[in-house]
Amino acid sequence: MPDTIRTIRADEFEAFVAAAHTAYFQTDPVAEDAARRLPHTDLERAFAGFDGDRIVGTLRSFATEMTVPGDRQVPVAALSYVAVMPTHRRRGLLRGMLSADLAACRDRGEVASILIASEYRIYGRFGYGPAIEDATWTIDAGRTAVRGEPVGSMEFVSVEDARGLLPDIYDELRLRRPGEIARWDMRWDLNLGVVELPGRPGWKGWIVVHRDRDGRPDGYIRYHVEDLWIDRVPASTLVADELAGATPSVDADLWRFALEVDLIATVRAIGRSPDDIVPWLLTDRRAAKMTQRDDFVWLRILDVAGFLGGRAYDRAGSVVIEVTDEMGLAGGRYALEAGPDGAECRRSRASPGLTIPIGVLGSAALGGVALRTLADAGHLDVHDQAALATADALLRWPVTPWCSTWF
Ligand SMILES: CC(C)(COP(=O)(O)OP(=O)(O)OC[C@H]1O[C@@H](n2cnc3c(N)ncnc32)[C@H](O)[C@@H]1OP(=O)(O)O)[C@@H](O)C(=O)NCCC(=O)NCCS
Repeated sequence: MPDTIRTIRADEFEAFVAAAHTAYFQTDPVAEDAARRLPHTDLERAFAGFDGDRIVGTLRSFATEMTVPGDRQVPVAALSYVAVMPTHRRRGLLRGMLSADLAACRDRGEVASILIASEYRIYGRFGYGPAIEDATWTIDAGRTAVRGEPVGSMEFVSVEDARGLLPDIYDELRLRRPGEIARWDMRWDLNLGVVELPGRPGWKGWIVVHRDRDGRPDGYIRYHVEDLWIDRVPASTLVADELAGATPSVDADLWRFALEVDLIATVRAIGRSPDDIVPWLLTDRRAAKMTQRDDFVWLRILDVAGFLGGRAYDRAGSVVIEVTDEMGLAGGRYALEAGPDGAECRRSRASPGLTIPIGVLGSAALGGVALRTLADAGHLDVHDQAALATADALLRWPVTPWCSTWF
């Protein structure tokens, strides 16, 4: 009997969670986890794969918005909870669930779907391209300091106070950073350790809010410490789980704070941008090493005209591209006419200078990787070098996209 793919009812939610637990190797009580997740799950966006009446595959998406170049926001769908039971793998369940979800997202007007991939090789075939990287920066605190003088003050706050203060600070800065997305209540509760996921220890640590000279909160650092002594010498690591400043000078104050905490030998900041300013803030650049750098957010464009027309461009130019999409969701020929005052992207019949797979366009669409790099690596067909030069120059953006939110 062929597997059935459909959205689930509330009374099926426990079985949905149970299937995901199996695929994710989670052994905690299912009922408890399901009760906690249900209020945060939009069942109209929770797809399951059924073998008979048994749920054997899961996937859900939810609406958020993403900041794109030019400090504009576009509606996107975030994909998560993708799981297929080991007994039912590689028979098309993921493909079936994802096809249904992506078509529904497109029909709802979401211009792209985004995800964080467990394994690199899964999602390219579905039109996703790695678009945003993340990095870990590790700094030898004993060897360096942050240059300059503080621009504000630091104050420890309780989790309860942070729950009130941090979302407002974040909401202000995410609107000015391409790649950032709107966060949801549950994300904050997890980040601050207000709730715990089964099988994973809840976050525990300290939260310090930065205030400007008028006392207005404009940044924060959330950290925990890996305590270590070697031969009675302190060798602890301060792990900056999140460091978020409204301006680069606030970021500098937050880094300064982290590096000056007593008994700390090393500061490790996770979930950062590879383009972080931190090495340039220091008196000794060599004290900061990027100790991890990987693909992070993958982008699957569902509406080429909506996405490319929704972002800004810092120069004028026009180009015609043929977009290929094996899933038949967003392919076609498009003319992009862009300028510093606005852009328009429309269907076109003109002859294309480039033929770009939808996932490759997704990788370049936020400016995180140059289209020329992708062309040099053989990811697109170039019919006209001038078109490549134009499209490459248009899609670049001075600010590297970055997303500081897990989903
Ligand atoms: C990833 C996962 C959901 C795939 O589900 P699935 O139902 O086996 O996938 P499908 O059968 O629909 O596969 C579709 C295609 O993707 C390929 N594929 C699927 N998972 C893959 C993987 N992990 N690595 C490489 N290719 C993969 C299949 O070979 C198939 O290729 P084809 O179209 O060329 O035939 C499943 O393996 C799983 O649950 N893994 C553990 C949890 C996980 O990693 N979830 C993803 C979180 S982001």
